Amino acid sequence: MNTQSVAELVLLAVSEDGVATLTLNNGKVNALSVELLMQLEQAAVALGADDKVRAVVVTGNARAFAAGADITQFAETAGDESATETSTETAGISDPPFAVSSPRRIAQIGAAFLGALGAIEALPCPSIAAVSGVALGGGCELALACDFRVAGLNSRFGQPEILLGIIPGGGGTQRLSRLVGSSRAKELVFSGRMISAEEALSIGLVNKLVEAEQVLLEALAWAQSFASGPRHALALAKAAIDRGLDVSLHEALLLEQEFFVESFTTPDAAIGVKSFLSDGPGHAEFG
Ligand code: COA
Repeated sequence: MNTQSVAELVLLAVSEDGVATLTLNNGKVNALSVELLMQLEQAAVALGADDKVRAVVVTGNARAFAAGADITQFAETAGDESATETSTETAGISDPPFAVSSPRRIAQIGAAFLGALGAIEALPCPSIAAVSGVALGGGCELALACDFRVAGLNSRFGQPEILLGIIPGGGGTQRLSRLVGSSRAKELVFSGRMISAEEALSIGLVNKLVEAEQVLLEALAWAQSFASGPRHALALAKAAIDRGLDVSLHEALLLEQEFFVESFTTPDAAIGVKSFLSDGPGHAEFG
């Protein structure tokens, strides 16, 4: 196992079989600060460009996958020029002085989410969020940017932004509704309520539910099964599904045709088809 720290807020380990693990490392609840998100984007882009990486697991600590955006970055200190003029003073609360961050600062935070979660989503190999504890707000959104979610029985999911008087800004209104349907997404986003691991499984937000202590092991075992699979075919299948969701069905079917034909030009097809014809199903060993 080659373990290195990309920087202190995101730890990276790559095993010899090509499974990369990104571990969020920001205190008790892994608040997603702009600094952490920038490091996460940098790590994801590097992994995406590395042919040796065949699957990626994203995880946190036992208590928290991530409790969302760093809420301390949503407010400015009094007198900060970048603070918006809307303050609690205007709302009738005079002491202490308080102002939420300016739209420009919030746009920077939003851009950091867009960049980091977009880089995770764009990984050409399968990605799995291994969730123990809370995955709230941006934490839930980060898990949604992965292809799959393995969750511990102790995990809880939610988009609590509405309780702060704001809305999700890391894909919570978009990826969540695409995954669980718009009505369920609205129910979660409008209420801000946390849901249990069991409920998350029942609505399709979670793929696998395991004992809390087994979360990372289960995710790594799943990732290893992808790492020994047909890399090119997996990348094409992922791109066909993800890109197809962004266009009309007709365009998506044409895209699938394009990738279907392309899949026959990769070494995976030569290995897989030859192996089937000579040894029957399930014996191919992909490189
Ligand atoms: N950003 C920054 N700090 C956060 C945070 C966040 N998103 N979530 C929690 N924290 C901090 C708390 O302020 C507290 O700090 P302290 O120890 O210095 O007082 C610490 O993490 C632990 O939180 P606490 O609430 O005391 O622990 P808990 O176990 O009772 O609850 C949570 C944990 C995560 C359920 C709860 O803190 C929470 O609901 N956090 C906010 C989640 C949220 O709204 N996310 C969306 C942001 S847009």
